[in-house]
Amino acid sequence: MMRSMTHALKAIVGGFAIAAAAAITPAASLETGETLFNNSCRTCHSVKADDNRLGPNLHQIVGRKSGAASGFNYSPSLKGGAITWDEATLDKFIANPDSVASGNTMKPFTGISDAGVRKQIIEFLKTAK
Ligand code: HEC
Repeated sequence: MMRSMTHALKAIVGGFAIAAAAAITPAASLETGETLFNNSCRTCHSVKADDNRLGPNLHQIVGRKSGAASGFNYSPSLKGGAITWDEATLDKFIANPDSVASGNTMKPFTGISDAGVRKQIIEFLKTAK
């Protein structure tokens, strides 16, 4: 009796471990980051080089200086490379653009309050080619 219960328990615990591991595989989270980017940013941004839309292209944006997409007409608040888009700065900017670059024209985007969502979008931006 005790033995079979232990077996059943092990099977249940094992099942949870497998489900948890599947949920955090990199492939799964990257796909989510791309979907979140598509939902929140893609109306205005592409991650392809030189592909400026309503907003500048975000090709290899992590590590890039602000205002660097050639051919895009930036507002004075982003022009001239005053900001370096490292992960922390991007995170702040996506949470509340005006807190990093006041007077920016990234409108009507109002910010993403969910830190987990921001992180996944930034992870996607790091890997997007
Ligand atoms: C409504 C359109 C719109 C949406 C939605 C939008 N953006 Fe923007 N974004 C812009 C515009 C326009 C600019 C240029 C702003 C300026 O010049 O002040 C910009 C600028 C940026 C910049 C600065 C780029 C550079 O070269 O300095 C980053 C980074 C950025 N956006 C990331 C994002 C991310 C990530 C999202 C989604 C979470 C997003 N944006 C959603 C329109 C948008």
